Amino acid sequence: MPPELSARAAGARELMDDPGADRRMLERTYERFRLVNAVVSRPGLLYRRDIRPRARRRTISILDVGAGGGDLCRELARRLHRDGLAASITALDADARATGWAEAHDDGAGVRYRCAHTSDLVREGAVFDVVVSNHLLHHLTADELPELLADTGRLAGDRGLVVHHDIARSRAAYVLFAAGTWPFAGNLLAGSFIRDDGLTSIRRSYTAEELSAVAPAGWAVRRGIPARLELRREPPDARP
Ligand SMILES: C[S@@+](CC[C@H](N)C(=O)[O-])C[C@H]1O[C@@H](n2cnc3c(N)ncnc32)[C@H](O)[C@@H]1O
Repeated sequence: MPPELSARAAGARELMDDPGADRRMLERTYERFRLVNAVVSRPGLLYRRDIRPRARRRTISILDVGAGGGDLCRELARRLHRDGLAASITALDADARATGWAEAHDDGAGVRYRCAHTSDLVREGAVFDVVVSNHLLHHLTADELPELLADTGRLAGDRGLVVHHDIARSRAAYVLFAAGTWPFAGNLLAGSFIRDDGLTSIRRSYTAEELSAVAPAGWAVRRGIPARLELRREPPDARP
């Protein structure tokens, strides 16, 4: 039986966010994010729609906020390289355990890893052409979400794009994730927090209506498949 999903479980905690989390399980979780993201996060769509057209015009800068194990950044770097395009890619995470692991597993992708909060980059006056995140919004408290949107809007400046991708909370998403990961709980996902934290993430995540209600002016929510949400802020001159 799925738990009650009519309201966000904002008080539920993901095991990986515990500062005392088992280090081996945490590192296996960073490593296994790649598999999960390849299935649910559709990095190819982000690349084709939002990254490649911009990178064809010039060398662009990309910031991934809350990059975790850095797999999205490395996947974008791989696709850019394949297409003969160039970009400077920064994987930002406020958790040194994540950036430390990700940097040690760059595998020649050439991504820059930075342990800092978005507010640190804002203070430095940093600006990027594309600011992305994946599975970040549901981690944040009600106070942190507007701060994150303000920070990422500033980091994209007047001409940059911001795209936050996350899970859409629903009974179907919970049941599908529970059933789809169950056969792998004792093998592929064993020794990681992926299954437990994935289910908690769905309980913590937003519906499209909830996210639209807190989105500032100029930001738009789109629904995606499977059970995905996108919160976007287009550069002002590209808005309809
Ligand atoms: C679940 S992880 C997402 C990992 C990765 N993006 C993925 O899709 O696999 C969320 C990460 O966001 C980081 N984070 C949260 N708020 C942040 C902020 N304002 N600046 C930088 N990192 C932040 C946390 O430290 C955490 O590692």
